[in-house]
Amino acid sequence: MKKAETDCSIPALPCRARPYRTEPYHALPCQTLPNPALPYHAEPNLTMWEYYSMGKAKRQMDDMLDLSAPISDLLAHWQAHSLSATTYAGIRTVKTPCDAWMYQQLVFERRPAVIVEIGNWCGGTLLMLAHWLDAIGSGRVIGVDVEHSRVPELVRAHPRIELVTGDAVQMAGQVAAMVGVADEVLVIEDSSHTCANTLAVLQAYAGLVRPGGYFIVEDTICHHGLAAGPQPGPWEAVQAFLLERRDWQADRSREAFGVTWNPGGYLRRIAGG
Ligand SMILES: C[S@@+](CC[C@H](N)C(=O)[O-])C[C@H]1O[C@@H](n2cnc3c(N)ncnc32)[C@H](O)[C@@H]1O
Repeated sequence: MKKAETDCSIPALPCRARPYRTEPYHALPCQTLPNPALPYHAEPNLTMWEYYSMGKAKRQMDDMLDLSAPISDLLAHWQAHSLSATTYAGIRTVKTPCDAWMYQQLVFERRPAVIVEIGNWCGGTLLMLAHWLDAIGSGRVIGVDVEHSRVPELVRAHPRIELVTGDAVQMAGQVAAMVGVADEVLVIEDSSHTCANTLAVLQAYAGLVRPGGYFIVEDTICHHGLAAGPQPGPWEAVQAFLLERRDWQADRSREAFGVTWNPGGYLRRIAGG
């Protein structure tokens, strides 16, 4: 851990994002969306940030979004909406549609035997991944999180989904034991987003990915496109990891839709590496 903490002190690259208010969200009922029309005091389950996000998202939606606005404003709108109101199959899901669609392309292209999602929150992404594997006809999804109480039965009951509850780094050995040596594994890291933890997760799980396979580090946009999240965060963790692991590279072609929360975060293990 000492090395990881040292590596995370890599200076942040300049970014153009405007200051943008963000605070940690807290647990919300997974299948109940807050009503953005209600005043804050009428939504006692919401933090001020969530209320603010919903209100801002709704106002911008009502205005049909000013698409001539700076991209940083549009990203802020999208961030607010994806944190507070995005669902998959009715389950709250912290994912922007462009990244979700790219994951879909990746899954159908690589047809992984196992997908490990680290950080599950309400489990919407777990279910989305499992449904794609249903369409393919094979594969399993392993969800790792310190807390699975928010995951509804619809997700838990899916036969392709297995939940491993605990700190991601500490559970890495247990997850590795659930994966076959020849399995193609796709890892998606979306947990605490601190640099030290993201780097530790990369180091603990990268060995599961075979040459040619992918490890997606989410939210590298933190302070590298959007002034939000831990600093240093996932971006710095990826830079540190790539410095020490020459058999990995960022596949920027996975950012083809222009807007991604994972700039430089679609990591591919080089074939033969
Ligand atoms: C951004 S949410 C995950 C959102 C989810 N991937 C989705 O697409 O909807 C982050 C999650 O990471 C979990 N988490 C935070 N630190 C963790 C750690 N050290 N190990 C495992 N999970 C962690 C939190 O409990 C939370 O559920």
